[in-house]
Amino acid sequence: VDLGYMTSEKAYRIVLAGDANVGKSSFLLRLCKNEFTLNSSSTLGVDFHMKTLIVDGEPVLLQLWDTAGQERFRSIAKSYFRRADGVLLLYDVTCEQSFLNVREWVDVIEDVSQEDIPIMLVGNKCDLRKGEVSCVPTSYGQKLAMTYNTLFCETSAKDGCNILEAVLHLAR
Ligand code: GTP
Ligand code: MG
Repeated sequence: VDLGYMTSEKAYRIVLAGDANVGKSSFLLRLCKNEFTLNSSSTLGVDFHMKTLIVDGEPVLLQLWDTAGQERFRSIAKSYFRRADGVLLLYDVTCEQSFLNVREWVDVIEDVSQEDIPIMLVGNKCDLRKGEVSCVPTSYGQKLAMTYNTLFCETSAKDGCNILEAVLHLAR
């Protein structure tokens, strides 16, 4: 259902963060257009999307900022955390390094944001779990989320699993 025409009383700025290639743009493509592409190109700078969701019976307008994970765009990404109401912090469950780098991302986010902003830690690409030999176990993600006092879930932009749920949970 396209709810884009509804006027929202509430609007939240949500920023996507995490290493390059973890699936931030794919996450938003699934959320906003219900599409997926295997050859998505790397984000340069930052992209912007809007989506209206019904949260507890009320329309909420989400302004979604898709930052670039590549190192050379780090300072641009940083400037968006400052004004964020919430952050979706993604790692790739098939890429251990992207999980290890979560700590760094949390430091950067907490460093630039004035107050404690809610973070949803997201282990993406969970559709690959069956096939891959080495994956970051779900329990590792849960533990890290507890350490940083963030929310946690695992998603797949490919099959759509938990994408909407993750955003709804953060919006709440
Ligand atoms: P940057 O823009 O460089 O920061 O990368 P990104 O985090 O936006 O990653 P992007 O969405 O471009 O996805 C990178 C690659 O991973 C693409 O080839 C996607 O098709 C693939 N991908 C993203 N999400 C998933 C997923 O849930 N499952 C699988 N199997 N592949 C995914
Ligand atoms: Mg991208």
